[in-house]
Amino acid sequence: MMIWLNKHCFNGLYRVNGKGLFNVSWNRRTRGDSIDERNLRAVSSYLRSAKVEIRQGDFEEACADAKAGDFVFFDSPYVPISVTAAFSDYTKDGFTLADHERLAALFRRLDRLGVYLLLTNNDVPLVRELYDGYLIEPVDVRRYINCKASKRRSREVIVTNRRRPL
Ligand SMILES: C[S@@+](CC[C@H](N)C(=O)[O-])C[C@H]1O[C@@H](n2cnc3c(N)ncnc32)[C@H](O)[C@@H]1O
Repeated sequence: MMIWLNKHCFNGLYRVNGKGLFNVSWNRRTRGDSIDERNLRAVSSYLRSAKVEIRQGDFEEACADAKAGDFVFFDSPYVPISVTAAFSDYTKDGFTLADHERLAALFRRLDRLGVYLLLTNNDVPLVRELYDGYLIEPVDVRRYINCKASKRRSREVIVTNRRRPL
């Protein structure tokens, strides 16, 4: 149902109203597949056979038992492009400046443990400061979720703690 809603709502957006109910409008799409059942079943069977455990919770808890040789990708909430004074204690997705600092501290701890790390975020000064000393690679990306076409292009960074073997 979640995938079906996602394919049939405006810009693939997920948003809820004050009562916590899904309230994104229909995208007027009437053609094409809503769900790729074969792919969904293949992914499901892989997750079962590989005994993948999916956890929901804070990033620190999720990484509590990460050890040397593990690989961790943080697709972290975006630091706003223009950081306002309010950002230090409030953001619309609830991820504050303190959370970004906490994530950067965890990144450094995991690095010291020998974990392979990858993190993405907007290319803004705060992100470059927080991950100073690591490999920071800028990339131009196209965003599909934005009503303004001009805002669908942005610059992000890929942060890693290892170089590719030669
Ligand atoms: C840029 S999105 C990543 C989206 C995801 N990779 C996907 O493809 O759907 C950032 C995600 O971080 C999650 N998030 C927010 N606060 C978090 C926290 N304290 N710990 C872990 N995840 C958090 C948000 O719910 C959001 O799904």
